[in-house]
Amino acid sequence: MTRWPYELVATDRVHVDGIVERLGPSDRARLDVAGLPERERFLVGRSAILTAVSRLVGEPLDALTVDAVCTECGGHHGAPVVFGAPTPVHVSLAHGSDRAFAVAAYHPIGVDAEPRNTSAARLTAIRDVTGVRGLDPLGRWTAIEAILKADGRGLRVDPRQVLVGHRRGRVGDRGIRYRLRRHRILHGHAVVVAWPDQEGGAGGNAGGNSGRAASRSHASNNASSEASANPAANRRKSSIDAAP
Ligand SMILES: CC(C)(COP(=O)(O)OP(=O)(O)OC[C@H]1O[C@@H](n2cnc3c(N)ncnc32)[C@H](O)[C@@H]1OP(=O)(O)O)[C@@H](O)C(=O)NCCC(=O)NCCS
Repeated sequence: MTRWPYELVATDRVHVDGIVERLGPSDRARLDVAGLPERERFLVGRSAILTAVSRLVGEPLDALTVDAVCTECGGHHGAPVVFGAPTPVHVSLAHGSDRAFAVAAYHPIGVDAEPRNTSAARLTAIRDVTGVRGLDPLGRWTAIEAILKADGRGLRVDPRQVLVGHRRGRVGDRGIRYRLRRHRILHGHAVVVAWPDQEGGAGGNAGGNSGRAASRSHASNNASSEASANPAANRRKSSIDAAP
């Protein structure tokens, strides 16, 4: 393993033989209704996740499967979970412009990626959503999304509630501090990885998305009780995605 406490895989193709057999029931249902470009993107992401876990645990991925069930509505989306590893693992995924970025770790983890050549309109939309006019909106936004993925609630939390520094951040309503690793340019993307800060008091496996470790069954992948849908935050995120 690297000196960072996770494995990161960036790829633009499927490297896993028989990838469809490695999908859980929710992922298969999602694949069944996916159009061609979405199907390709989805499978590249799943391949990246499984490869990252296989490298982390140092074993072939024969026993691994991946699946995602929304903790909010039970739908075929949400944070991915990998089953079958010898030790419980956590994973996170981000889709870049031309490739997937996946991370795997033994603790909650989140990753986000944005193309470095993001348009001025999108940068303006990001500044509006985060409410911060400072430099490096891309760095701020990728850190916020990485933390919210590690937290497990994603944009059900208002991004303005995420406090971000250069190396650390936290979500306002929880006592967990997150470490941040900024891969400034990776395949033309700004990539940020977030994980609970073991030195941060309330950090560690007590919080974050630890409830989604691989050893858990599909049935026990229960909802985050205090998290409620945040339509306002999702609307603001949509304004970013709609920017040319
Ligand atoms: C995840 C999220 C923060 C970022 O999405 P984005 O910027 O559009 O896309 P990215 O490429 O960066 O990330 C997408 C990946 O995040 C992961 N993801 C989705 N929801 C997640 C969550 N709650 N926690 C952690 N990761 C999540 C998935 O792996 C997804 O890729 P996949 O669909 O191929 O598996 C945002 O989509 C989100 O918050 N979604 C959940 C909101 C929610 O729960 N709403 C209630 C629905 S009923």
